[in-house]
Amino acid sequence: MSANLTFTIFKPRAVEKKNLGLMIDMIYRNGFTFKAMKMIQLDPEKAETFYREHKNQPFFNDLINYMTSAPVVVAVLEKENAVNDFRQLIGSTDPATANFGTIRRMFAQSKSANAIHGSDSDASAHREINLFFSPDEMV
Ligand code: RTP
Ligand code: MG
Repeated sequence: MSANLTFTIFKPRAVEKKNLGLMIDMIYRNGFTFKAMKMIQLDPEKAETFYREHKNQPFFNDLINYMTSAPVVVAVLEKENAVNDFRQLIGSTDPATANFGTIRRMFAQSKSANAIHGSDSDASAHREINLFFSPDEMV
């Protein structure tokens, strides 16, 4: 799979607060192209698989409860240097310390409800894309 791809989730509060359009617009304006996108309801098993690296963290149960609390939108994005550029665009995990102008700074309520996910490496992007999309769902 191309190293120019990354994976994102528009998280439950961002969808509920109707910030999807503004967030998608920011992503387009920063040079990304959407290769796939769909709205889904995560079940606990899928959320636990997705966040398996955090299984032993004290925040794990809260994280799974949050991510399964309402629909999310999952998407595949393309851009040169996609993983790093997208992490820059979304900002750090806690919106209170994220840089001004980042998506989390603008749209997140808290560290646990931080609006959006971005893959943290090419290997993660590859795993996450395959967890949510089959090849025939990609344009
Ligand atoms: P994400 O995976 O969702 O894109 O977020 P991230 O890489 O910036 O942060 P990560 O360390 O992977 O954590 C995954 C999600 O767990 C929640 N979290 N809560 N209470 C806490 O200290 C804490 N730490 C992490 C956040 O919602 C984070 O997005
Ligand atoms: Mg992460």
